[in-house]
Amino acid sequence: MNLNKFNNTKGIILAAGRASRLFPITFAVNKQLLHIYDKPMIYYPLSVLMLAGISDILIITRKEDLTSFKSLLGNGSHLGIRLSYKIQKEPKGIADAFIIGEKFISKSNCVLILGDNIFYGQGFTEKLIRANENKHGATIFSYQVNDPERYGVVELDKNNLAKRIVEKPKKPKSNLAVTGLYFYDNQVVKIAKSLKPSNRGELEITDVNKVYLKKKQLKVEAFGRGFAWLDTGTPDSLLNANNFIATIEKGQGLKVACLEEISFNNNWISKEELKNLKGLISEGPYKSYLSKILKK
Ligand code: G1P
Repeated sequence: MNLNKFNNTKGIILAAGRASRLFPITFAVNKQLLHIYDKPMIYYPLSVLMLAGISDILIITRKEDLTSFKSLLGNGSHLGIRLSYKIQKEPKGIADAFIIGEKFISKSNCVLILGDNIFYGQGFTEKLIRANENKHGATIFSYQVNDPERYGVVELDKNNLAKRIVEKPKKPKSNLAVTGLYFYDNQVVKIAKSLKPSNRGELEITDVNKVYLKKKQLKVEAFGRGFAWLDTGTPDSLLNANNFIATIEKGQGLKVACLEEISFNNNWISKEELKNLKGLISEGPYKSYLSKILKK
């Protein structure tokens, strides 16, 4: 395993939550373990962190789901990454991730991604690497949506700089949603700890972003119209996400979020290690895909 990684930024995947809008699908199964076409949902946010060059990753989940995540991903060493796990006992909000992850983050910068957010588009890796190179302040990503009232919404000024961020505004001033991918410097832990719960009883990620905005340390990058940010919150959006990934993968013969491929491309596992991983997978399309990568 080559652990000579490009940076020491830590990654957190928040995969807690009850996903009640998906009941009864999520009565007994964590949403992030449901499949998006040919792989579990958590592969997608995990792949984003890996594409950003982040290899030290904390997965935060609920107690009842911990065993399943561990049997799916283990300690990550087979992928040349280091995975650890923590439990969120109560749904205290997204920003609670930084309090739960305080020890893990230690003195590093930190990227948080929500376990049910799917990103896809050209130039994505470059954007991620650029955001990760920005060592001071915060970088968040906006995406134009039809229903901004469902999200954190960012308003820009004439110079395209963030002016205001509002969580689920009744009358949104823009249609730019803040996506579930956040790059922060080490101040984030202190900021999260200073927050008061919102009306819905949560430590809001929007409130973290507001602190960075006030300090003039918030950068907002846009995902443009050629980009896809997919929601998986309802049965319909889940189905759409499945169909979207299936369409892309079948059309191009390239997989989205194939962790083994990303790890291999990052030089985090050798050809030999990839061969061994392939050996663990039963005959089927995923194994054939890994064979294809090995032949490249
Ligand atoms: C959360 C955040 C919101 C963000 C969204 C992205 O919303 O609070 O600011 O736009 O994730 O998925 P929630 O999932 O809590 O409704």
